[in-house]
Amino acid sequence: MCGIFGMLGQNAVADTLKALKTLEYRGYDSAGIAVKDGNGIKLFKTVGRVENLKDAIPSEVYGTLAIGHTRWATHGEVCQGNAHPFYSADKNFAIVHNGIIENHLSLKYQLSSVGVDFSSQTDSETVAHLLQKNYKNSVLDSVLATANQLEGSFAIVVANTYDDNLYAIKNKSPLVVGINRDGAYFCSDVRCLSRWVDKVAVAPDNVVAVANRQSVAFYDFKGNPVSVKFFAVENAEEISGADGDYMLKEILEIPEKIRQAKQGYFKSGGLSLPAKTVHRVKRIYLIGCGTAYNSGLEAAAIARKMLSIDVIPVIASEFIYDNYPVDSYTLAFFISQSGETADTIRAVEKVREQGGFTYAVTNTQASSLCFVCDKVKNIYADGEYAVASTKAYNCQLVTLLLLLTDVSYLKGAIDDETRKKIVESIDVLPTAIDKVLSNSYQIAKLAEEIKDSSAVFFIGRTADYPTACEGSLKLKEISYIHSEAYPAGELKHGTLALMEKGVTVVAIACDSLQIDKMALSISEVATRGAKVVCVSPYSFENTALLSIPVVNRYLYGILSVVPLQLLAYYVAKRLGRDVDKPRNLAKSVTVE
Ligand code: F6R
Repeated sequence: MCGIFGMLGQNAVADTLKALKTLEYRGYDSAGIAVKDGNGIKLFKTVGRVENLKDAIPSEVYGTLAIGHTRWATHGEVCQGNAHPFYSADKNFAIVHNGIIENHLSLKYQLSSVGVDFSSQTDSETVAHLLQKNYKNSVLDSVLATANQLEGSFAIVVANTYDDNLYAIKNKSPLVVGINRDGAYFCSDVRCLSRWVDKVAVAPDNVVAVANRQSVAFYDFKGNPVSVKFFAVENAEEISGADGDYMLKEILEIPEKIRQAKQGYFKSGGLSLPAKTVHRVKRIYLIGCGTAYNSGLEAAAIARKMLSIDVIPVIASEFIYDNYPVDSYTLAFFISQSGETADTIRAVEKVREQGGFTYAVTNTQASSLCFVCDKVKNIYADGEYAVASTKAYNCQLVTLLLLLTDVSYLKGAIDDETRKKIVESIDVLPTAIDKVLSNSYQIAKLAEEIKDSSAVFFIGRTADYPTACEGSLKLKEISYIHSEAYPAGELKHGTLALMEKGVTVVAIACDSLQIDKMALSISEVATRGAKVVCVSPYSFENTALLSIPVVNRYLYGILSVVPLQLLAYYVAKRLGRDVDKPRNLAKSVTVE
C-alpha cells in the first residue's frame, strides 16, 4: 500500500533503490526516487517494478540525501505522471507519500485558484505545492503549517533545497525512524531498516520528524518537542528481497512454522491474561481483513464447539462503521499478518474507546498494531512476502486455537484433560501437512484440469466453510478466475442456478458429522455438470479426491487449507500469472 523511504547518508541512491526493492511488496504500480545534490533535487520515476527504475537512473547520479517510493495506485491511474516523488512548482521541495489526503480536493481548489498547476491526478502532489506556498524562511515552519492543513492518513517524507535536513510528517500511516553513526532513515517498514541501523523508533501519530546525520527530533503539529523512544533493532527481521516464487516457498515452510507457533506460544507465556479478567469476558470478537478475517471465521467456528459465550468474527472495515456492542466485558482479538492494516487498526481504536480489551495476533512485531493493542501475541510465522497470505493463515489458526482453548479453560468451559488433548494434538499437524505437500504432483495435475473453468465455487459446512472462503480468496486473487465460497447447504437457495459444464466446485468435507449432507451437496452440483474436487479424509463419489490425513476435529482448518493454497498456486502458474505480485493488489493495506 505504497512504500516510502528517505535517508541521509553515504550512497543514498544505491541504498534507496535497495530499500525500494525491499518495499516493493507494498505496491508495484510504479517506483521513483528524488536525489539531492549540489545542484538541487533530481527526480527519476518509472511505471512498474523497481528494476525498471534502476535502469532509468544514470550511473553518475550521486547524493547523500534521497527519498523513494513504490506505489499502489489509489488516486489516479498507473502512469509515470502519477508516480512519486512529486516536486513543488519551484522544485525546492520533493515529497513521497503513503496514505490518503482526504481533503485533497479542497486543497487543490485553493492552490489552483492562486495559479498552481498540477502535473498529476494524485492527492499526494498537493503536499509538495502546500510546502512551497507555506515556505517563508524556515522549512520546519513550512512543514508544520502543511501538516496542520492535511486531513486523512499520511506518512510523508520531504526533501528540500533550503537546508540539509530530511523531514517527515506522520498521521495514521506507518513510519519508522532509524539512526546509525552516520545517518538517519525514514521508512514504512522496520524490517527494511535493520540492515542499516542499530536503533529505530515508531513515529507516533500527529508528529513532524526532522533528521540530520546525527539525530532525529520530533515535534507535535504546534511545534512542541515530543519525546519518542528508540529501541535496539535486533528483533527486526530483514526482508531478503522479493525475487522468485515466495508463495511456494512460504507454503513449504508451513510444517516448520506450525511447530514454531506452538513452541513460541508457550515460551512467550501463553494467553498471559489474569484468570479474573478472563472470567469477566462475556463476548469475544475476532477481527481482521481478507485472509486474517478468514482465520477469525475459522477460529470462531472452533471456539463455538468449546465456549458458550458469543464468539463473533467481524470484517474490520465493517466493524468500524457498524454498531457492534463493546463494553468492559468485551475481549477483541485483532488478527493481522502485517500489523499495519488500516481497517484493523481503526477497529482497535473503536474497541479501546468503548472500553473493551484489545489483543493483537500478528507476526510483525513492532508494527502499528502492536503499539495500539493492550496485549500482543506473536504467531511466529516470520516474514511473509508473497502477496497471497499462506503460512501466516496456518500460524494464526494455531495461535488462535491455543488462545481460545486457554480462554475456554479459564472460563471453566473445558477441563484440563481436554485442554491438554487439544494442545498435544497440534504435534501431528506438521507430519500431516508434509503428507499433503508430498502429494503436490496430484494437485498440480488437477490444476491443469481446472485452470480453464468459467468459475470455481468452494463449499463446506460448519468449520469447513471458513476453509472454503480462504480457498476461494487464494484462487481468485492470484489466478483471476471468478470464485466464490458458500456454505454447502445454501447453494440450493440460488447459486445452484450457476452450475453447468465448465464450472468447478471444490468441496471441503472434513466435519465427520456432515458427511451425508456434503455427499448430497456434491451430488446436486455434479448432476448439473460441475466438475467436483473434494478435500477430505473421507471418500466421495463423483469427485476428484484430494485426500488428507485424519486429525483432531479442531485442526482440520489448519490442514485442509494447504491443498487449496497449492491448488491456487498451480492454477495461477499454469495461467502464467505473477503469483507473488498479483494485479491490483499489495501486501500491506495501510489505507481505509
Ligand atoms: C490475501 C491477503 C489479504 C490479507 C489482508 C489483511 O491473501 O493476504 O487478504 O490477509 O489484506 O492483511 P493483514 O493480515 O496484513 O492485516
